[in-house]
Amino acid sequence: KRVVILISGRGSNMGALIEATGDPSYPANIVGVISDNADAKGLKAASALGIEAKAITKADYPDKAALDRALDEELTRLQADIVCLAGYMRLLTPAFTEKWAGKLINIHPSLLPLFKGLDTHNRAIEAGMRVHGCSVHFVTAEMDGGPIIAQGVVPIAPGDDESKLARRVLEVEHKLYPLALRLVAEGKARMENGRAVLTGVG
Ligand code: GRF
Repeated sequence: KRVVILISGRGSNMGALIEATGDPSYPANIVGVISDNADAKGLKAASALGIEAKAITKADYPDKAALDRALDEELTRLQADIVCLAGYMRLLTPAFTEKWAGKLINIHPSLLPLFKGLDTHNRAIEAGMRVHGCSVHFVTAEMDGGPIIAQGVVPIAPGDDESKLARRVLEVEHKLYPLALRLVAEGKARMENGRAVLTGVG
């Protein structure tokens, strides 16, 4: 399967996906990286690895719908089968998420449906949670609200601050995302009637 990754910044999850898909037995290849931020560190990293990388930024389009149409055209040109959001900080329009439904996945740094949105690590600590983690889910029009494919759990230790916890979660993200992408690429995780259906797993 041909996979395109959308990023906005650092791109460490992108890096984990590129590394995993480098294995010849992995059922997907990264064929492009697109950022909504021309200065994203991840864009340079992807280019350096020989992956087609470009920015599609809001400055070049009159509105969200026009940007999403440009994104859609680029994904179509790249013949993307699956699109992975990895720290992509824009909300996509319903027209876009509907067109790519079942092919669009995201990683979020919390155990969804808890802590949608930003600042998840602080919010989990503040809530007194003893566990936290990350989720990979199909993307729908509702932010961080689509059906869950896979989750990873970490403990919250008594002395944890945001950065310690973020590091612990990120390590798990880097394992979880390649695992979840594999399930989607192999057709073992599918979105049907707004639910994630897993077959041939475990
Ligand atoms: C990750 O924590 C991811 O879960 C969230 O944004 C962060 C992106 O980090 N959606 P990176 O760009 O992959 O390093």
